Amino acid sequence: MKKLFILVFLLLSLGAYSKDKINVGIVFSSGGLGTGFNKMAYDGLKKAEAEGFITFKYVEPSNITEDLVFLRDFSREGNFDLVIGMGTVVAESIKKVATEFPNQKYAIVGGTITVPNTITIDFAEQEMSFLAGALATMMSRSNKIGVLLGMDNRSFNRFKHGFTQGAKYINKDVLVITSYMPTTSSNPFNDPVTGKNISNLMISRGIDVILQVAEGTGNGVFEAAKEKKIYAIGSDTDQDGEAPGTILTSVRVRIDNAVYNLTKEILNGEFKAGYRQSGLAENGVSLTKFIHTKKLIGQEKITRLDKIKKDIISGKIVVPE
Ligand SMILES: *[C@@H]1O[C@H](CO)[C@@H](O)[C@H](O)[C@H]1NC(C)=O
Ligand SMILES: *[C@@H]1O[C@H](CO)[C@@H](O)[C@H](O)[C@H]1NC(C)=O
Ligand SMILES: *[C@@H]1O[C@H](CO)[C@@H](O)[C@H](O)[C@H]1NC(C)=O
Ligand SMILES: *[C@@H]1O[C@H](CO)[C@@H](O)[C@H](O)[C@H]1NC(C)=O
Repeated sequence: MKKLFILVFLLLSLGAYSKDKINVGIVFSSGGLGTGFNKMAYDGLKKAEAEGFITFKYVEPSNITEDLVFLRDFSREGNFDLVIGMGTVVAESIKKVATEFPNQKYAIVGGTITVPNTITIDFAEQEMSFLAGALATMMSRSNKIGVLLGMDNRSFNRFKHGFTQGAKYINKDVLVITSYMPTTSSNPFNDPVTGKNISNLMISRGIDVILQVAEGTGNGVFEAAKEKKIYAIGSDTDQDGEAPGTILTSVRVRIDNAVYNLTKEILNGEFKAGYRQSGLAENGVSLTKFIHTKKLIGQEKITRLDKIKKDIISGKIVVPE
């Protein structure tokens, strides 16, 4: 009797607050499915689709003007339970449509702004970078490590701040050298020649582990690391296989998890507009699993990293951005 009661209650509450399937529209900002960032969002939606609770439609605009056109089209259609825009570049466009279509639900993945009827998901890059800095310092013999960043702004400096704090947590005397891609580079995010050159310069100053946060430029960083027999750390996607044994791990923003979760939230009728930051606790950021480097790093250091991760999740270690 009691069981039946609970079942009826469950069915009633499901009926009241959710559907069995939702429809999602996603606008991949410039680069379309060719960028790791957008591809991860796609993977998250594919997973939800395979589990049978969403259908989705995606578009690949060629510029910002087109972003707005597609967002407006999706909103006007009125068939989407959620419309997602990818990256800070769509923020202004979403602001516009969110005002024009107050009953449409939106999400921006990546970015820091607050928009009406929109969920903004940001990521705690500083937390995964803390782990990377701790690992780099444990692996360093020279006690000098480095980071190469594609740009000098708040988003990229989160990596630097987390990396430095993690390094100092292991050894307060470690030297962390930071370099930025020169603004004179024609494309700081796809300039492996300059990336290699800067890496070599940093290696000549004694670093023996380097974190790259400059997308395609990182290929030059990996080349330098391999040639000079130092370690590197990748970013964005799982880059560990690009130079197995040289790349210790990669810091990853788990856009796939975040997007998958978004769809679940809408499905369950739990849409909650506003800004949020997804970190280690939410599995929104992570390190890769040392597939090629487990032996090299050794269980002792991996266990220590796990402990640090737990302490960040519990709040015992706080990592300011
Ligand atoms: C954006 O792309 C569309 C379609 O390719 C094109 O018609 C339009 O001129 C472009 N606008 C800008 C500002 O580049
Ligand atoms: C920093 O620059 C990158 C690349 O241009 C951009 O995607 C990001 O939104 C910028 N962050 C801030 C806080 O301006
Ligand atoms: C590499 O760096 C050296 C000095 O450090 C500089 O003279 C040279 O022009 C650089 N080469 C490239 C391709 O950036
Ligand atoms: C996804 O949802 C699960 C279950 O609610 C939660 O534990 C996790 O923190 C969420 N992850 C992200 C990235 O939002």
